Amino acid sequence: MKRIFVLLVSVLAIEAQAQVHDWENPSVLGINKLPYHATLQLPSREKECKEIVSLDGEWLFHWSPKPEDRPVDFNLEDYDVSDWGKITVPGNWQTQGYGTPIYININYPFVKNRPSVTSEPPKEWTAYENRNPVGQYVTFVEVTKEMLAKNLILHFGGVHSAMYLWINGQKVGYSQNSMSPAEFDVTKYLRAGRNKIAVEVYRWSDGSYLEDQDMWRLSGIFRPVQLWVRPLAHISDYQVTAVPNDDYSQAEIEAKISLCNVGKQAVKNLKAVLLFHSASDSLGHSRTVRVSLLSPLQKTLPLLAPGDTTTVELACTIDKPLLWSAEKPNLYPFSIELQDKKGNVIEHFDYHFGVKRVEVVGEVFKINGQNVKLRGVNRHDHHPITGRYVDDATYEDDIRLMKQANINFLRTSHYPDREYLYELCDRWGIYVMDEANHETHGYGYANREMGEDLAWQKAHVDRAESLVKRDFNHPSVILWSLGNEGGVGPNIEAMYNKVKELDSTRPPFYDSDRRYSAIWDDSYLYPEDLKKNAQEVKDKPFMMREYAHAMGNSCGNLQEYWDVIYNDSSICGAAIWDWVDQGLLKDGYYAYGGDFGDQPNDGPFNINGLVAPDRKPHPHYYEVKYVYQPLQFVRESNGNIRIVNHDCFTAPDEYDITYDTLRYDGEVVLNIAASLKEPKPWAPKGFVVAREQFVLQPYVFPDVSVKGEVSANGITIDGNTLTSWIVDGKEVLQAPLEPYFWKPENDNQHAAHFAERTAMWKEVRDVTVKYTVINDHSIRVDVDYQPSGNNRPVMPKFGMRMRLPADYTQIRYYGRGPWENYPDRKHSAFLGVYEMPLSDYETEYIHPQDNGNRCDIRWFEIATQTSALGPRLCITGLQPLCIRAWDYGEEDLEDARHPNEIPHGRFVNLNIDLNVHGVGGADTWGKRTLPQYTIDGNQPHSYSFILSYQR
Ligand code: GAL
Ligand code: MG
Repeated sequence: MKRIFVLLVSVLAIEAQAQVHDWENPSVLGINKLPYHATLQLPSREKECKEIVSLDGEWLFHWSPKPEDRPVDFNLEDYDVSDWGKITVPGNWQTQGYGTPIYININYPFVKNRPSVTSEPPKEWTAYENRNPVGQYVTFVEVTKEMLAKNLILHFGGVHSAMYLWINGQKVGYSQNSMSPAEFDVTKYLRAGRNKIAVEVYRWSDGSYLEDQDMWRLSGIFRPVQLWVRPLAHISDYQVTAVPNDDYSQAEIEAKISLCNVGKQAVKNLKAVLLFHSASDSLGHSRTVRVSLLSPLQKTLPLLAPGDTTTVELACTIDKPLLWSAEKPNLYPFSIELQDKKGNVIEHFDYHFGVKRVEVVGEVFKINGQNVKLRGVNRHDHHPITGRYVDDATYEDDIRLMKQANINFLRTSHYPDREYLYELCDRWGIYVMDEANHETHGYGYANREMGEDLAWQKAHVDRAESLVKRDFNHPSVILWSLGNEGGVGPNIEAMYNKVKELDSTRPPFYDSDRRYSAIWDDSYLYPEDLKKNAQEVKDKPFMMREYAHAMGNSCGNLQEYWDVIYNDSSICGAAIWDWVDQGLLKDGYYAYGGDFGDQPNDGPFNINGLVAPDRKPHPHYYEVKYVYQPLQFVRESNGNIRIVNHDCFTAPDEYDITYDTLRYDGEVVLNIAASLKEPKPWAPKGFVVAREQFVLQPYVFPDVSVKGEVSANGITIDGNTLTSWIVDGKEVLQAPLEPYFWKPENDNQHAAHFAERTAMWKEVRDVTVKYTVINDHSIRVDVDYQPSGNNRPVMPKFGMRMRLPADYTQIRYYGRGPWENYPDRKHSAFLGVYEMPLSDYETEYIHPQDNGNRCDIRWFEIATQTSALGPRLCITGLQPLCIRAWDYGEEDLEDARHPNEIPHGRFVNLNIDLNVHGVGGADTWGKRTLPQYTIDGNQPHSYSFILSYQR
C-alpha cells in the first residue's frame, strides 16, 4: 500500500511539473534561440542584402481566447488550415479583428500572481473570458537545394509576448522578450520544396510581468519576419566603436567582427575586411564623410574550425575626424565583408559609424566635450491603424516633425523600437536614449519585489543585453536606459553591470534605482522644483526623463522650464511625455481605453501627444518648436538684438537671418527668423528654425469715452444681459450676451479637481455690466467685478459669452495666432492679422475639452459670408482680449467622450474674456496651472469692449 502511495505521489509530482508552461516560467527565456547580435545590415539597405528573404505578407491565422481552446496539432503537416482566417504580418491581431485591445497604465491587465498570467480575474475583466489568448500563425516557404546547402536562420523582429516555432511539424524553439529579435537556426528543419512554418503566440507570459508599460496591450507577430540565407562561415556579429582622443585631433576606429563556422568543415584563410566609402558612393546617407584616403582594413584568419566562433579585431586611426552630433550628424559609411581565400566576397554588409564621445564629467553631461542640452520627447511605437507596427514612412514623418520642432533628443519609451528608426536618428541627427523593454510598474514605482527576486534576474538581464547588442552600432544612441518604472535592487544592478560590460562608450540610465544611473532623474517637477532639486543633486547630472505631460490641451509654462535648464549646467535636459496620441482608429474616431469594451482600462490617459495619431501637429507642438529653438533673440536696452546660441556645434551664421517690420493699426512689430541656408533631409532650404517677435511700437487701444444712450431701437438690455439686438430687421443674438466665468476643463485641470474647486463660478456672476449704446449698430460693454469675499477660488475665466446664428463661420482677428494659445502657452503665437474659418479656430482634441483660445486680441470679426469682409460682428477690445469661438456649447463639450459625439453647427458660441485660466504644464495627475496664469477670484477685475455690427 505504502509503495503504491509513494509511486502515485511521484507521478503526480511529475505531472505537476509538466504543467509549468515555458510561458509561465521566468527561468525559460528562450529555447534554441540564437545569441543576440547587432543589426547586420542598415535597415534602409536591407533590400540590397542578398541574404534576406522577407516572409512578410499574409499568413493564415487562428485565434483562441485561452490556451486550452487552441488546436494543439496545428503545427503538423497534415493539419487542415484551409478554413483559417488571414492576417497581415507584421501586425497586431487586435487591430486586425481578433480579440480586444486593452489600454491600461499601471496595473497588469491580468491577475498579478507571478509567474502565472492565468489566475482567475473578476468576471468583468477582459482577461476573464480571454484568459490568455493564443494566436496561431501558418505560412509556407519554398526552399531550394542551393539554399539548403547554406545556413538558414529565421528572424522575428518582434513578437508579443511569447512564441513557439515549428517547421514541418517539428518543434524548433521558443522565445519571449517581445521587443527584441528572436532568431532560430532552422537549417535542419527545412527541406527542398514547400515547408510549413507554424508559430504559436501567447498574449501573456511571465515576460509580461516585465512589460507593464503604459500603452495599448497588443499582441502578435508585429515586426518583420525574415529568412536569412547565410554562408556556412559567416559574420555573426560586429561592433564598431569610433571615439575621439582627448583633443579631438584623432579618432580610434575599432571593429570587432565575430565570425562563426556552422559547417562541418574547417574554413581556411577567411578574410574580414572593412571598407571605408566616400560620399560619392552615395549610400543614401544625408551627410557622409569622405575618407577616401583610408585604405581598407583587413585580417586573415588562418583557420576557422567547424562549430567555432572567433572575433577578429580591426583598428585604425582617423586624423581630424568629423564628429557626429545631432546638429552635425557626420557619418562614415563602411562595408564589412567576408572574403574567401581567393578574395571572393562571401558576405557583404553596409553600415555607418559616427565619431563621438559621451561622458559625464562631475555633474555635467557632455557630448564631444560640450554641455549639450537634450531638448527631448518620449515616443511610443504607435500607429493608429497598425498598432505597434509602424511603417517606414511614419517613422520618417516622426523624425522629420521632431527635427522641424527643434527636438534633438528621443527616448524610445519604453522599449527598443524597430531598427529603421535608429538609422533615421543617425542620419538626420537625434540623440537617442535607447530603453530596455522593462517595466514592472504594477508592483509599484521602484519596487523591491521584482528588483530583488533573484528568480527574475536572468529575465531582467536578458532585456539589457538584447538592447545593447542589437543597437550597438547606431551612433545616435547616447544612453542605454535600463527600463522605466521598475524595481530596485540586485536585478537592476545586474542589468547595469551587463550594460557596462557590453559598452564602455555610452553610460547606463535608470529612473527607479538611481544607484544604477549615470544621470539623476526626477520627473514632472514644477519649474521651481526642477531648479531646487537640480541644485541639491551634486554628484551627477540631472534630467527630467519625462515632463510637460502633453495630454490634451497642455504644455503651459514650457519656457519657464527651459529658463531653468539653460541656467544650470548640471541639468542636461528633459523629455516631454510624449510624442503621439495613442488613439486607434475605430468607426471614424480615435479610440482610447474602454472604447473596445476593454476592462480594466485607463480611459484617455494614453492620449498625450504633441501630434495626433495621424501625425497632425497639435497647437502645443508649435510652442515646443519655439521653446526648443536653438537660437534665442534678446532685445537689449539700446535696441540691439543679441543672439543667444543654445547649440554647441552650429554657429548662428550658418542660418539665414532675416527680419521684417510689420505695421498693423499703428502697432509696429519686428519679426526675426533664422532659416536653413541649405536643404536638409528633414526640411527644405528656407525652412524657419527659430523666430522671434518684438513690439517696436505698441498698439494703442481705443479710448472710446461715449456719452451714449442706455437703449436704442432694436436693442434690449435686461440688467447685466443684452437679450436682443436687431440689425436690419434681423436678430444678431441666438443667445444673450451675459457674464460667464465658467469654462470646461482640459485634461490637466481635471485631475487637479478644477471643476470641484471652481464650481461656484458656474453660478456666481456678481459683476456689474454697463451697456452704452453708441448707435443702433454699436454698443460699448463695461464689465466690473468686485469680490465680495476673500476665500474665493480662482476663476476659470473672466468675461462674457453669447451665441450667434450658425452662419457666422468666418473669422478675422488681430491678436496672437494663428494657432490656439493660452496665457501660459503663447510664446510661439505671434501677433498678426489672421483669417480662418471657424472650424480652424477650434481645435479638435481626441478627448474633447476646452480649446481654441486666442490671446492678446485687439479686434475680432466674425462674418456670415465665406469672406471675412461680408456683414460681420466686430469686437474691439479696449485692452487685450481672450476669445474662444466654437460651433457648439460648453455643455456639448462636457458631455462628449469623442469629437464625433459633439453636435456642431446649431449656433456659434463666443466667449469674449479679459482672461482665461492657463492650460497647465506639469502633469495630469494633480499639479496645477502656475499661479501667474490664473485669475484670482479675490481681486477686482474689469474690462471693456465695443460690439459693432458692420455691413
Ligand atoms: C510616466 C510613465 C509613462 C506614462 C506617464 C503618464 O510616469 O513613465 O509611461 O505612464 O507617466 O502618461
Ligand atoms: Mg508606468
